[in-house]
Amino acid sequence: MDEPYQASPEIHVLPNNVAIPGVGVLPINAYVLRAEQPVLVDTGLGIDGDELIDAVASIVPLDELRWVWLTHDDADHTGAIARIFELAPQARLVTHGMCAFRMATWWPVPLDRVHAIRPGDRLHVGDRTLRAVAPPLFDNPMSTGLLDEASGALFSVDSFGALLPGPTQDAAEVAPDALAGGMTAWAASDSPWSHIVDRQRFAATLDGIRRLAPTQILSSHLPAAAGTSLEQFLDVIARVPDSEPMVAPDHEAFAAMVASLAPPEVLPHPAGV
Ligand SMILES: [Fe+2]
Ligand SMILES: [Fe+2]
Repeated sequence: MDEPYQASPEIHVLPNNVAIPGVGVLPINAYVLRAEQPVLVDTGLGIDGDELIDAVASIVPLDELRWVWLTHDDADHTGAIARIFELAPQARLVTHGMCAFRMATWWPVPLDRVHAIRPGDRLHVGDRTLRAVAPPLFDNPMSTGLLDEASGALFSVDSFGALLPGPTQDAAEVAPDALAGGMTAWAASDSPWSHIVDRQRFAATLDGIRRLAPTQILSSHLPAAAGTSLEQFLDVIARVPDSEPMVAPDHEAFAAMVASLAPPEVLPHPAGV
């Protein structure tokens, strides 16, 4: 896990940047929203469990955490979830109901602590209201983002993610061409169905996001971005259906990627050799 940073006085980013050989990094963020009733948005990577829990606890004592908004049940979002629910006795799990049921096949989800939501629903967290939003691109049909109606911050789930040259804490620091290319590549690989959408209906979906007029865009897979970037991002996303489809690496390419990640393993000599 990388060093946490703040996207605003009330929003903390808990980032990792996973190396993608030959490409750069994929940011993977969880967030803490310091509302009157504190909210954790997603729970990071499993391999970051201890670090993520320590990072959350340094921002909000775990016994004061009230909500865990799980955007969807993919492995890059559910890392520490079971332990968080052991350590945060007041926390309720806000998620798509089917995410709760599906996760119950691999960890003992406390179903009596689940608050099921769907796009358009509102959740009151003391000093503000969070509106559930369907993200325009997604790799999991249960994906549910949120708009913090007090600050205007949009947590956009996998949408607006990008493969980047390196880690950064502000999307504006990435050169526009690199950002557009990385966002297109991520969108095409994370949402391959985008190539078969009806273009007009997709444009109407993007208009729905435009109308939210977010002040910040907080993707699970992008450094924090200002709302002023929205038009640029929507322009990139609108072109994704006509971009080149992503092709998975064949075994040879995969092996080359693995070789570039790790130093060569020194194997012990077999006995007698
Ligand atoms: Fe996902
Ligand atoms: Fe994701």
